[in-house]
Amino acid sequence: MSAHPIQLFDSESSTYTYILPAPESREAVIIDPVDTHWARDLAQVERLGLQLVYVLETHAHADHVTSAGKLREMTNAKAAVPSGCEISFADMQLVDGDTICFGGQEEIRVMHTPGHTAGSMSYLWRGNVFTGDALLINGCGRTDFQSGSADDLYESITGKLFTLPEETLVWPAHDYNGFSVSTIAWEKANNARLARRSKSEFIELMARLNLPKPKLMDVAVPANRSLGLPHAA
Ligand SMILES: [Fe+2]
Repeated sequence: MSAHPIQLFDSESSTYTYILPAPESREAVIIDPVDTHWARDLAQVERLGLQLVYVLETHAHADHVTSAGKLREMTNAKAAVPSGCEISFADMQLVDGDTICFGGQEEIRVMHTPGHTAGSMSYLWRGNVFTGDALLINGCGRTDFQSGSADDLYESITGKLFTLPEETLVWPAHDYNGFSVSTIAWEKANNARLARRSKSEFIELMARLNLPKPKLMDVAVPANRSLGLPHAA
């Protein structure tokens, strides 16, 4: 098994889910799974002969419901979530600097990258960073609800994510334009919201976006705070 992330897509919410397979064992981790795709995701895991040991969330999503609870039920994987996202029923509440170990040698570094939500985490694994809704390809997550902060997001992206090695691959939680992967170097040089912008210019730009509220928000956020489990929602 190669050490590359496997990227899966939900066309309803333009969400990416990732499977991280350990090359030296059959263990794997899944990041940000979507409720409607749990069977597809499990079929993919089984097709590759993998065993899920962790389900990770980057934050409490507002635009889709997670299948973290369902996947845990089906596989005995542990659900690990950002501690600042008010997500109940998880096995692990993650904080900045934590390391998730799986598959013998594999380590995922937990990076607190607030701004889209106060608790948002990014996950670093083998030169790949899974940025959730903090850094997107040629963009970034919105900061106008769920305790979002443009000030914090600017610091998370420029002060943390942009200090990773330039060749680090950037795998976002969403893409609305057909892109699938980027690099830290490309985003530093070209990101439409961040490149060559001061913090005050970025804050002003984010304040002017006037985005509509996500259609599923009132359903998704409470459901995601209980790992998407209907009996607990
Ligand atoms: Fe989000």
